[in-house]
Amino acid sequence: MLSRSAAELFIKILKVEKRPILGFATGETPKLFYEQLVMLSTPDLLNAWKNTEAFNLDEYIGLPPDSPYTFRNYMYSRLYRYVPIPEKQIHIPNSSPSDPELECIRFTEQLKFVGKRHVQLLGIGRNGHIGFNEPSHTLRLHTHIVQLSEETRKQNAAAFPDNVSVPSEAITMGIGDIMDCDMIVLLAFGPSKRLALTRAFSGTLSTECPASFLQLHRNVIVFTDQENVI
Ligand code: F6R
Repeated sequence: MLSRSAAELFIKILKVEKRPILGFATGETPKLFYEQLVMLSTPDLLNAWKNTEAFNLDEYIGLPPDSPYTFRNYMYSRLYRYVPIPEKQIHIPNSSPSDPELECIRFTEQLKFVGKRHVQLLGIGRNGHIGFNEPSHTLRLHTHIVQLSEETRKQNAAAFPDNVSVPSEAITMGIGDIMDCDMIVLLAFGPSKRLALTRAFSGTLSTECPASFLQLHRNVIVFTDQENVI
């Protein structure tokens, strides 16, 4: 199973590294991955989790901290409630920052301070976004505020009670932040991701397909059920 194989890569890092630094993503795609990661987290890994630093790619802006729709809540309900990672080692942008620009600077500094991630999990948007780096004329290197495209808000609406309440803004790691890791594990399942995957690995770089910049990383592993896309 693809999600299990991806989770096994993370488990390997937990076993080998003294201070694992992991990057996570949210969304529909990695739900099974988190189930597997929890299942594979046997008691001998308790110390490894205690020493882990974990980062998330992104977070909506404008949701109260107790909202069930934050990515923070997604991560706690799927992973952090099951593994003994200390709260201070969990890094997710704040969903209701008093100063969003300052929150981006704080998050970028944390990424730099903790150091290069051993692995970063990614999904891909149908429009080729990674994190919340949307197709655009320019892409940013570091953590920044983004206006979510209508397409992305529609794509994510299923997680909300009604389409209207999907926030229009988010904080996301930039492309440079995403790439600053030893290994990228990209999950892309189902026919709706086929076109985005094809564009991402077509041999051309385009800011209109942010995932195409993954071609510049030396160690990207794609787990996909698509045939002949790459
Ligand atoms: C989530 C994220 C996004 C998703 C992408 C795919 O943290 O950064 O880039 O990975 O939107 O979402 P799903 O898996 O819901 O299709």
